[in-house]
Amino acid sequence: MNICIIGASGKLGQYMVRHALDRGYEVVGVCREKSVKKLDRFEGRITIIPGATNNPDVIRRAVAGCDAVLVVLVPWGVHQYSSGTARAVLDYAKPGARLVFSCGWHITLDGKDKYSKKFLREVKVFSRIGKLLRAVDIDDQVEACRLVFASDTRWTVVRGSDLEEGESQGLPVWSRHVDDPILQSNLTRRVDYALFMVEALQNDELIHEAPAISHHVDDC
Ligand SMILES: NC(=O)c1ccc[n+]([C@@H]2O[C@H](COP(=O)([O-])OP(=O)(O)OC[C@H]3O[C@@H](n4cnc5c(N)ncnc54)[C@H](OP(=O)(O)O)[C@@H]3O)[C@@H](O)[C@H]2O)c1
Repeated sequence: MNICIIGASGKLGQYMVRHALDRGYEVVGVCREKSVKKLDRFEGRITIIPGATNNPDVIRRAVAGCDAVLVVLVPWGVHQYSSGTARAVLDYAKPGARLVFSCGWHITLDGKDKYSKKFLREVKVFSRIGKLLRAVDIDDQVEACRLVFASDTRWTVVRGSDLEEGESQGLPVWSRHVDDPILQSNLTRRVDYALFMVEALQNDELIHEAPAISHHVDDC
């Protein structure tokens, strides 16, 4: 399988590259020019297309011929970085390609997620401060996901809980809604978030789903 990883140089992206190579996939990675060196350890094993992930021309070249695209949706800045990235992928991915996007629990597909007051307060504060500093635009990540949900592509939007580093704890559990008791933990190891994203490529049950994921807590 030929896959494209958009945002390959970030923490999540690098784990996805590793999982993809472990499965023998051909990998094309997109990252900012200044971050190419972060991918040095994969030299000779992946193709890198440097550039902004919301640049349609960069994305068009990167996804050409790819069977699947893994997209790290990040809400940086105030110039529609997330929605520009999503739009470019939706416009240029090969018809029928499997598309898997990352985002956080704050995104909702059907409005039926039930959030704690603390969670909502934190999102609100983070969103306000991010906008004030012109550093982060959470609303644009919401818009990006709205574009994906409305598309007729073969998409999955994987909604991550809080993330931490560390050894793998196995494939996270998932639910359609964040208040599901199965999501007992609000933490996921980044390496396992990446694992879920890469495994989703082979799981057609996740098409047109926005799984909220977290680390599996053993009751025993
Ligand atoms: N962090 C969390 O606790 C958390 C919780 C739930 C869900 N998520 C979701 O998980 C995904 C990965 O998040 P992460 O926090 O782990 O980040 P990450 O993997 O480190 O990825 C950050 C990405 O943003 C890029 N980036 C950084 N600064 C940028 C800028 N100024 N302009 C453009 N791109 C920039 C990075 O590229 P460079 O390599 O070029 O810097 C990298 O591709 C996101 O979709 C996020 O919504 C995160």
